[in-house]
Amino acid sequence: MSLLKVEDLKVHYPVTSPFGETKYVKALDGISFDVEEKQTFGIVGESGCGKSTLAKALMGLESPTAGDIYFNGKNANDLAKGERYKMIQMIFQDPYSSINPRKKAWQLIAEPLMINQQLPKKEYFDRACELMKLVGLRPELAHRYPHMFSGGQRQRIGIARALILNPKILICDEPVSALDVSIQAQVLNLLMKLQDDLGLTYLFISHDLSVVNHISDKTMVMYLGKIVEYGKRDAIFEKPIHPYTQALMASSPSLADKDPNIKPISGELPSPLNPPTGCSFHKRCPQAKPECSQNVPFLEMKSNRAVSCPIV
Ligand SMILES: Nc1ncnc2c1ncn2[C@@H]1O[C@H](COP(=O)(O)OP(=O)(O)OP(=O)(O)O)[C@@H](O)[C@H]1O
Ligand SMILES: [Mg+2]
Repeated sequence: MSLLKVEDLKVHYPVTSPFGETKYVKALDGISFDVEEKQTFGIVGESGCGKSTLAKALMGLESPTAGDIYFNGKNANDLAKGERYKMIQMIFQDPYSSINPRKKAWQLIAEPLMINQQLPKKEYFDRACELMKLVGLRPELAHRYPHMFSGGQRQRIGIARALILNPKILICDEPVSALDVSIQAQVLNLLMKLQDDLGLTYLFISHDLSVVNHISDKTMVMYLGKIVEYGKRDAIFEKPIHPYTQALMASSPSLADKDPNIKPISGELPSPLNPPTGCSFHKRCPQAKPECSQNVPFLEMKSNRAVSCPIV
């Protein structure tokens, strides 16, 4: 059984224009995948394709419009919030805005533990200090406030806070992109070590394709709320077959050592309020055929991966 299973998940946000007309942003529009225990599931796609919306839906911070989420075979709707938070936690992109500046490091880290339990303060403090050691922060810093830490240290506080309930799954939503390049590798190495030591399962969202190539077991490529290609990491990176995946990889500076000719993806990202008919990528697709503007593609197994394009 998969640790996480997502079935036909949709999150549609209503948006009302100044003239009173309501339209929907289909931030997630029928996403299905599963994640095995202790693996890293990489998620890539341009800005606005729905990656953070997926993270929020999995955390229970956003209610799905339709579809189901299962943790260890159990429907997430049947889990109490506390149970869900022991299953899945998240670290955020920006360690500056995602933590409360008025709390001390140990309080920030222990906070998820304090919500449901009444323990003596010293127990929370001791547990927070254990977590600080785990993420490479000296426990002597426990009484400091966030502004006294560097960006990398703050992200470590965020990681400690996410781990204090011993979750099985950690969502890392662009965990290093707000950090100095020199610090990024340290935080990534810490995440990889924690995964090994604690047997964690990661959902890893990143713009940096070389990082996703490096750490993921499976990779999912999204475009405008849908999956375009999804499968084992080596299949996807060694031989991408969806024209969007190919374009995304060709446009990635971080994969440039493979092919030094970086080519931006042609055309503009369509408005999510008015996505094109048929295949939503067809207007930018170098391989598009006339029927692509009519027929909505669906995921099919081809060459060891699922791909949503009938012409490749
Ligand atoms: N609360 C909201 N109300 C309306 N639209 C929203 C809301 N949250 C997100 N969206 C829209 O949903 C789409 C998906 O957003 P999301 O934040 O999931 O993208 P993303 O893939 O995480 O992008 P990025 O790479 O920039 O972080 C975007 O078009 C966004 O504008
Ligand atoms: Mg995002």
